[in-house]
Formats: sequence, C-alpha cells, structure tokens
Amino acid sequence: MKLAIDGGTPVRSASWPSWPPPLSAGQRELVTEVLESGLWGATQGSLCTDLAAAFAARSAVPHGVTVGNATLGLFAALRGLGVGPGDEVIIPAYTFVASATSVILAGAIPVIVDVDPVDLHLSAAAVEAAVTPRTAAIMPVHLAGSPADMDALTAVAVRHGLAVVEDCAQSHGALYRGRPVGGLGDAGVFSFQASKAMTAGEGGVIVCRDEGVHARTWSACNLGRRLGGAWYGHPEVGWNLRLTEIQAALLLPWLDRLEEEIARRNAFCEAVERELGRLSVPWGPASAGSGAGGAGVSSSVEPDGSLPVTVVPQPPGTTLDSRHLLMLRVNAPVDREFLLAAMAAEGVPLDGGYPPLGTMSALTEAGARVEPCPAVEAASRTVVWVRQSMLMEEADGASDVVEALAKVLGADR
Ligand SMILES: Cc1ncc(COP(=O)(O)O)c(C=O)c1O
Repeated sequence: MKLAIDGGTPVRSASWPSWPPPLSAGQRELVTEVLESGLWGATQGSLCTDLAAAFAARSAVPHGVTVGNATLGLFAALRGLGVGPGDEVIIPAYTFVASATSVILAGAIPVIVDVDPVDLHLSAAAVEAAVTPRTAAIMPVHLAGSPADMDALTAVAVRHGLAVVEDCAQSHGALYRGRPVGGLGDAGVFSFQASKAMTAGEGGVIVCRDEGVHARTWSACNLGRRLGGAWYGHPEVGWNLRLTEIQAALLLPWLDRLEEEIARRNAFCEAVERELGRLSVPWGPASAGSGAGGAGVSSSVEPDGSLPVTVVPQPPGTTLDSRHLLMLRVNAPVDREFLLAAMAAEGVPLDGGYPPLGTMSALTEAGARVEPCPAVEAASRTVVWVRQSMLMEEADGASDVVEALAKVLGADR
C-alpha cells in the first residue's frame, strides 16, 4: 500500500476533535454573569476562591490558591515551602521545561535526574543517588496524566527530610492508590494552560495541607500581603501572580464534566492498546525495506521480538490515569523524523515529545546540575505521543492510529 507521504491515500481524512472542546452552557452562563456583574478583577468576586476550594477539596487537603499559570504556581509553592537560593530541587529529565524554570525562578538549583526506563516518571533510585546536603525538595511530575510512584518517592523524601512539590500540570483528576494527586506531597500545582485537561487559556491552582505553607504561598501570589491583612501592608516580598474571575468562570463548570472526559480518553487509549497488541513484526534482515514503510526502516536493527509499538505503562499505584497524553514506545527500527512526517501525512499527527531536559543549555547555563539520564535519552529517540484532543475522539478512531502505524511501519495486522 502506497504511503500518503509518497502520494498514496491517507488512512484518515477526517479531522480530529479540536481542543478546547466547545463551551458548555454552564460556562457561557457563568462567564456572562461575571461580565455583567462588572466584577472581573481577581480580588473582587468569589469564583477564584470557589475554584481554589474546589481543587483543595478534590485533592483532599484544606487549602488552595489560584495563580496565573502553573510555572508561577510551582515557583510560589517552592517559596511557600521555604525553598530559595542555594537549595537544590530534584526534578525528572523527561518533563516540560517549566518544571525546571520554576526552580530557577525561586533562586534554587534544578538537579535533573533520570526517569524509570519503563514508565518514564521520576525514578526514586535516581533521586536517592542525587541527594546532597543542599537538597531541599523533590518535584515528581505526574506525566501524561499518570501519577508518579509517590510511595517510593515519598519514602526517599522522608528519609532525607525533603519537601515534595507535585507537578500536577498534566494530571487533573488522576488517582494514585485511590487518592487524588495534588494532596500526596506538601504542595501540588495544576495548570489551566491551553493544552491542559481544563483550560482558561492560562491559569493554575496550588493546593496544600499546611496552614503556614498556604499563608506564605498566598502571600507570594498577592504582593507579599498577609492573608486577611491590610491592602498596603506587605510584610513579605511577593508578586501579583493572580488568576481572574473570568478565568475561574470558565474553569469551575468544567469540574462537572472532567470525569466524563477522562473516561472518554481512557476508552480511546484502551482501544489503541488492544489493537497494538495485534500488530506483528515483519522486519528483519530479510524483510527490512520490503514493507510498505520500507523507506524509513533501517535494516541494521534486528527485531527483538517485541511488538512494533507499545503503550508506555503507568507507574505502580496508578488507580486512574487522567490521560493528558498517550505515550507510545516505538520498538520498530524506524527513522523518527520519517515516522512523524509519514504519520502526519496519513492524517494521524503524532508529537515527538520532550528532548532530555539536561540537553537544554539555557538551563545548565542558569546553574542546573544534570545527572546521567540514559532512560530519558532512549525515550527521546523512541517515544511519541498521541495528543489529548485526539484521545477525545470516539474509541473507534483508535483504529486509524493503529492502521496508520501499521502502514508506516510495514507491520502485519
Ligand atoms: C509538566 C508541566 N509542568 C509545568 C507546566 C507549566 O504550566 P503553565 O503553562 O501553566 O505555566 C506544564 C505545561 O505547560 C507542564 O506540562
């Protein structure tokens, strides 16, 4: 079958669902209400407070603070926990750059360590190996919607007296051993940036258990004021990092449909995994280059008997993966750029994912320390992502993903 990249017919011509999904009636009503009330300002209405309280309750902790975005939220949480200049914060090398830049913003040093080679989340062993007397905190990232293995990571943190800031930017609604993410560490930070499971274009929320951490975090986001204190009283150094009422009006009604959307994405992912299990491997020295995807297949790599493409598994303890992304590991010997271009031509665009954080010179120039990260280097060569908007398609759309992969890789179905 001729590949679409070579002028053949694409597997899929229909578009994928767009993101964000259409506004709900509840969103329209609440945004209109805020606009008509005239109370748009961040400190005027009560929706930001309601949103913070809703996220705190969902995370099973008492406190929440809304914030302009999660980069600043992670920074404010670190400030709230007393992390500052000279401190080291251990973060995974397979994450969005903001996990590192929030640490730099706090004046601290990001220490970039490897992930587990199987599930690609922060490795407790790598954290343990990177702890120094200057380590103040660790930042597990609940990557792609699945929680990091918090029991293992918390054990290391407790052993060394480290704070734990959960980067929940991609994991709204996810559960770890039956417990909601965000409330598993000392602070958790969710993002409402445009690509996230709930969005107001930008935005974020910080949740935490401790009253003192809450007061300091709130103060960092509110120009150093004291909670309940005077408008022109600024006992701390702080910034204006606030969310607005219009953003909160877009977000609060979303909570009513979050679980339904997570279930929809999970159904799609399960269908992809089922169908991937039926692909077989025709390549090898005799057949490499002879399949439909032969142009991109390297004959120098021997097949290892694994499936051509597998779903990256969740870390131990995942009860509910919120499926921000579906991460696929391509075991087939294929040129990566060819794969991405050929899949896009087939109407199934995939994302190439993160480069290793430690390869970003801006971070090392800013003082980041980088530990050896072989698992992340391998992931940056082999892992691709199906984006959240595509996961919102009916589950039978999963066939298009697998059919296009089979066609491009020249695999038998
Ligand atoms: C893992 C992770 N951390 C932090 C952020 C930063 O969030 P924001 O864009 O709201 O600043 C993002 C996403 O953008 C992210 O994916």
